[in-house]
Amino acid sequence: MIDLRLGNNIELIDDIDDGSVDCVFTSPPYFNAAKKYQRGKGHHYSTDFEEPLYNIVDIMEKIKPKLKEKGVIILNLGFSYGETGIMRPFDIINRIRTRLGYFIVDNIIWVKKNPIPLQKRLTNAYEYLFVISNSPFIKYHNEGHKLNIVNEAVASYKGHNAIMPLKVAKNILETFSQEGDLILDVYSGSGTTACACKELNRNCIGFEINEDYVKLSRERLKNHNEKKPFIKKSIDKL
Ligand SMILES: C[S@@+](CC[C@H](N)C(=O)[O-])C[C@H]1O[C@@H](n2cnc3c(N)ncnc32)[C@H](O)[C@@H]1O
Repeated sequence: MIDLRLGNNIELIDDIDDGSVDCVFTSPPYFNAAKKYQRGKGHHYSTDFEEPLYNIVDIMEKIKPKLKEKGVIILNLGFSYGETGIMRPFDIINRIRTRLGYFIVDNIIWVKKNPIPLQKRLTNAYEYLFVISNSPFIKYHNEGHKLNIVNEAVASYKGHNAIMPLKVAKNILETFSQEGDLILDVYSGSGTTACACKELNRNCIGFEINEDYVKLSRERLKNHNEKKPFIKKSIDKL
């Protein structure tokens, strides 16, 4: 079962049964994304600094009871600059840990083979994939030893230019879930998590607020198969 749903994740999450989700794999919008994705006036109501925090902490709070006992969340947070320097991802992770009582179990670095050059700073060539759980002990399904680094080029898919590379999605899902598991992506975008789930025989529910992206991702999913992945060409080209 793969189901890509249109709507605001904060509302759609209420339809998910408690204790039913094995793994959440998700990438919120980048911190410099459009104001329309930011909460309220663009600032978290309880923020103590002038930074937009979107609804990441709120959705993480609502996900908590939905997880199975050893369920795991892989939260992709891009490196960013702002009034607090480079600390935004850590500020968010710290809120998730201290306010919501999650354990931050691991952190994977996605190294981008083709980073977009920056003008006034060092070019950022990585993003974080924080591994979070209600339990300090989670199950790793990888065979043999895996490093906490994944190397892959930035990808795009038709109308969506902030997508997770399919190879990274598959790597993560193979490590943190198994066949038949229920995977949730609360910011599903172009449907990369759903495509990876299709290949890996996982069930998947995705939430996406933008109607165009929902259409795009449903179409992508329909055409996606293991032998001819839809975005393989663009990944190889990069
Ligand atoms: C970085 S993109 C996700 C990309 C995705 N991982 C992929 O590979 O295509 C973030 C997505 O979150 C969506 N979004 C933002 N706020 C949302 C909300 N409150 N509920 C559901 N989706 C949301 C945006 O429209 C955007 O497509």
